[in-house]
Parts: sequence; C-alpha cells; structure tokens
Amino acid sequence: MRTQVVIIGGGPSGLLLSQLLLKAGIESVVLERKTRAYVLSRIRAGILEQGMVGLMREAGVSARMDAEGFVHDGTLLATENTTFRIDFARHTGTSVMVYGQTEVTRDLYDAREAAGGAIVYETEGVTIHDPKTDAPYVTYVTGGTEHRIDCDYIAGCDGFHGVSRGTIPASVRREYEKVYPFGWLGILSETPPVDDELIYASSERGFALCSMRNAHLSRYYVQCPLTDTPEDWSDDAFWDELKRRIPEEAAERLVTGPSIERSIAPLRSFVTEPMQWGRLFLCGDAAHIVPPTGAKGLNTAASDIHYLYHALRDHYLDGSEEGIARYSERALARVWKAERFSWWMTTLLHHFPDQTPFDLKMQQAELAFLRDNEAAQKAMAENYVGLPY
Ligand code: FAD
Ligand code: DHB
Repeated sequence: MRTQVVIIGGGPSGLLLSQLLLKAGIESVVLERKTRAYVLSRIRAGILEQGMVGLMREAGVSARMDAEGFVHDGTLLATENTTFRIDFARHTGTSVMVYGQTEVTRDLYDAREAAGGAIVYETEGVTIHDPKTDAPYVTYVTGGTEHRIDCDYIAGCDGFHGVSRGTIPASVRREYEKVYPFGWLGILSETPPVDDELIYASSERGFALCSMRNAHLSRYYVQCPLTDTPEDWSDDAFWDELKRRIPEEAAERLVTGPSIERSIAPLRSFVTEPMQWGRLFLCGDAAHIVPPTGAKGLNTAASDIHYLYHALRDHYLDGSEEGIARYSERALARVWKAERFSWWMTTLLHHFPDQTPFDLKMQQAELAFLRDNEAAQKAMAENYVGLPY
C-alpha cells in the first residue's frame, strides 16, 4: 500500500493533521494502537486557545465546538487572602474556549470516518523504516498480519510513550527535562461548576484548580504527593481538601457529588530536539510535555500541527520546501515559550516540599505584583490565550 503521509497516533495531534490534509487533498493513513472507545475514555485537557479553535474551523470540524463550547474572557487567581481576575478580553482582545479534549477527539473521529479517511485501529509493532532516505515506509501488525505502507513523509503523533521519538538516534537527540515533586489528582463530577470562570488557587495546603466541561459537568484538581494513588482518596476527602484550598465564598457555594472519573497525573516538563529527522516529524506529546498548569499541552500539540500542515501543503501544492526544512526550528521556537509559561505558572502557584521561607516570599511577591501590575497581567493574558503561530 502507498500513501502520501503516514500518521502514527490517533490522538488529537494525529487526527487534526489528518483532517487538515484531507481538506487540502493530501492523502494520509492514521495508525492507532488502541480502539476509538479507549482513546475517547481518556479525560484530559479542557481549554482551547484561539489558534486551536481556528484549526478546528479550518479542518471543518467546528460545528459542535462553536455551538456547545463556552467562551471565557478571563480567569480568576486566588491566594490565601485575595482573589483577582486576569481579563483576557481587555488585555488581548480575544478569549479561550472551554471544550474538552474528549469532544475534540470525538468530532475529529466522526469527521474522518464520515469522509472515509483511513484509520487503522489496534495496530501493534509500528516500525518506521528509512526516514533519512527518499523512500521511507512503515510496517505494523493487525489481526496477526504484517502490513507495509510506503509514503513520502511520516508524522510521529504517538504521544510521550510512542515509537517515533526513539526512532531518532540517541546521538542526534538532545532531551531537556524537569520533574516536579508532586502530581494533580483530578475528578470529574456531574455538578454545576462553582464559578462561571476557572479558579487557579494557591494555598498553604497546595494548589487547586476549579474547571469545567459544561454547565452540568465540573472538573476539579488538587495538588497531591506523587506517592498517592486515586484509591487513597474518597470523594469526601477530595471535596474537603478542595474546599480548604479555594476562597471561602467559593467553598460555601461549591456543589459536591460523586466523582465519575478520578485520576492522578504527575507533573513534568520535557522537550526533545530536533523535532525532525529526515522525513520523520515529531508532533505534540511525542516531542514535548508541559505541566498542566496553564493548559498548554493540547494547545502546543496544535501549534506543531499548524507548522507541519503548512509545510506539507506548501510542498504538495506550491512545490516549496522551506516549511519542511524549517519545521523543527519553527515548532520549537513556540514550544519553548509554552514550556516557559507552564513552568512559570506551576512555580507560582504550587507548594514545593523543599520550599524555603525565602522561596515562599518570592511566590507571594510575584503574585502581589501580578495582582497590582497591568503589564504583568497583560503578559499572562497573552500567554494564556496563546501566542501567535
Ligand atoms: P496523545 O493524546 O498522547 O495521543 C497519542 C496517540 O498515539 C494515542 O492515542 C496513543 O494510543 C497512540 N499511540 C501511542 N503509541 C503508538 C504506537 N506505537 N502506534 C500507534 N499508536 C500509538 N493538557 C492540557 O492542556 N490540560 C490538561 O488538563 C491536561 N491533562 C492531562 C492529563 C493526563 C493524564 C495526560 C497524560 C495529559 C494531559 N494533558 C493536558 C496533555 C494533553 O492531553 C496532551 O498534550 C495531548 O493529548 C497531546 O496530544 P497528542 O495527540 O500529541 O498525544
Ligand atoms: C484544565 C486543565 C488545566 O491544566 C488547566 O490549566 C485548565 C483547565 C481542565 O482540565 O479543565
């Protein structure tokens, strides 16, 4: 079999790329290790930057997002004794969209299946061959049979634990990593959100975040030790801890209920360079991870797809090789800014186990500066709604 682009991974990165290529008349095949139901069962990101919203529209998959998503013009930041708002609309003239990653992925699967685009599920042993030559190909096994797809290019959209990154020899790769000494325990509950906007709360007991998916579905997180497991936390223990970390008036109106999903995510910053090796391109979590504070994971995956989509379009439609040659450089320039912002927000709002009294004063001073300084608020707003591509 032959196609123009083999896409490894049917998460948001791979699916978005496949839909954009399809609209441009460029053929691709998506190889996904799991089933569609499994991919859709993973509860992850909830906030879309303007750039991601624009890509969903460009890919022709925005109808439900535009009808059901919620536009947020600002967010609340809370500390022990003060709550203040970062006004995205005033500082940037734009906003973010609350629309869950599960819904994004569902819309992309539905569109791809409706258009008859190829997705192979439950692939095993995906292997990339000869990406440094003009004739790369990918082999994989489904149902006990080995298959081969010859192609022009390969997009490695297979997440942090995929095969694509490791195909680039260790002698070529440079990896940068920071592991944080805590995780986030997240729950989903069929209760109305505590506020119209998100609340990022910094407290002596640790960080907490109040988020949402829609008017009847809330998403809440509390910082927890890495040694905790979801089973260590009853729903009651979670709600009690959340209430202690958020402003009193929010705690009083919080509606609690049974959790319908509960999971712990460790926090990590990670980048691999370069993001391209011959005809193989890395996109999204395959190339970089951010701690979730500031909601940059999915959005940074989307910006990679923007650069790769335009590179492939320019190659196939205009015969220009510049985008292909400069993919890694362009994607990484924006990735590092998202890494900086996520690291900054994580450092600003979490309780660190080894924090000295001086470190604590620095956190408090930085928060007070942000509360009182318009320029600092503008810088935060610009990063939160998403830097330009
Ligand atoms: P993935 O979503 O990881 O998709 C990769 C796909 O490739 C998967 O479907 C996988 O099954 C498939 N795959 C892997 N290996 C192979 C293989 N060998 N062959 C074929 N297929 C393969 N971001 C935020 O902004 N906010 C959040 O709140 C947030 N919460 C998160 C919580 C968790 C637990 C995790 C893990 C991530 C979270 N993120 C969050 C990050 C965000 O979800 C990711 O950045 C986003 O999913 C990246 O998309 P992706 O398509 O690059 O990778
Ligand atoms: C969500 C997650 C985040 O990391 C964040 O900064 C904002 C919202 C969420 O899951 O809703």
